[in-house]
Amino acid sequence: MKERLNEIEKEALKEIEETQDRKSLESLRIRYLGRKGLLTQILRGLKDLPEEERPSIGQKANQLKTRLSSFLQKRLDEIQKREEVSVGEELFDVTLPGKQFPVGYKHPLTQVEEEIVEIFRGMGFQVEEGPEIETEYYNFEALNTPKDHPARDLQDTFYLDLPPDEKGEYLLRTHTSPVQIRVMERQKPPLRIIAPGSCYRADAFDASHSPYFSQVEGLYVDEGVTFGELKGTLEVFAQEMFGRGVKVRFTPHYFPFTEPSAELAISCVICQGQGCRTCGGAGWLELLGCGMVHPAVFEKVGYDPEKYTGYAFGMGIERIAMIKYRINDIRLFYENDMRFLEQF
Ligand code: DAH
Repeated sequence: MKERLNEIEKEALKEIEETQDRKSLESLRIRYLGRKGLLTQILRGLKDLPEEERPSIGQKANQLKTRLSSFLQKRLDEIQKREEVSVGEELFDVTLPGKQFPVGYKHPLTQVEEEIVEIFRGMGFQVEEGPEIETEYYNFEALNTPKDHPARDLQDTFYLDLPPDEKGEYLLRTHTSPVQIRVMERQKPPLRIIAPGSCYRADAFDASHSPYFSQVEGLYVDEGVTFGELKGTLEVFAQEMFGRGVKVRFTPHYFPFTEPSAELAISCVICQGQGCRTCGGAGWLELLGCGMVHPAVFEKVGYDPEKYTGYAFGMGIERIAMIKYRINDIRLFYENDMRFLEQF
């Protein structure tokens, strides 16, 4: 009988050890320790053994029972632990490729605007903003653009269907120049500001016009500001933006709010001034308008034109971006075609 118990022990331990899942483990438990299990039967049969064998066999069988149940429990713990890990492995298979999140970029116009702003901030200009819904006074009148000026034409300006206030009809600003007036009204010189923002004109939508566009305005007012400073500042800007090799040219122009007024052109970035299709054979690309602030503008904001001088400039962000990236159709900026936008 002792041998039989030893055999059972050996066999059971081996089987338990080799079991890989709960179900087979449970059937092993039933096989050895269940109500009709092998060990149970032996314990029940003790009474039929010769009297002198009973105590030692009984003790051994009981020890084996305890040993087997703790061994079963140990194996069950191991199997459970392994199951948890394998569930984890299913959720976090480190060999699977990760989800691809597409990376977004700023719109090319935003990038160019930020670049312009950074160049001028580096020269001491502060960023200002003004409303896109303006009145005739700020958009025209205070900028020395009288009532009969062609710029006020209904064809150019979006007027709003609102009752006018004491500053005239409401409209969508046609340029960022009204920010000059708003800043000068609330600040005394010296001031040196740039104002980026959206503008609107009742223009056709074609390769070079858009009813919506954006500008950056600049204004510098102090005692003794000269046209030479204007030229120097804008030359630095042009070279920072388009490269050191770029040449600048100032030609006389007309704007109501500056006197004298000028237009700044740069040597063509494509043909370096030789003449090509982009510059229409001229070798120059018009970049922006500028000039010395008209005394009539200073009077509107209560600055003494005898004491202060200043310069102003205004540029289209689309135009700068088109020259910089050689884009020949302004509409590309607004169509949100990913094939275009992804290039920036
Ligand atoms: N406001 C002008 C326009 O939209 C651009 C401009 C020209 C702004 C000369 C200025 C300036 O400040 O001095 O065409």
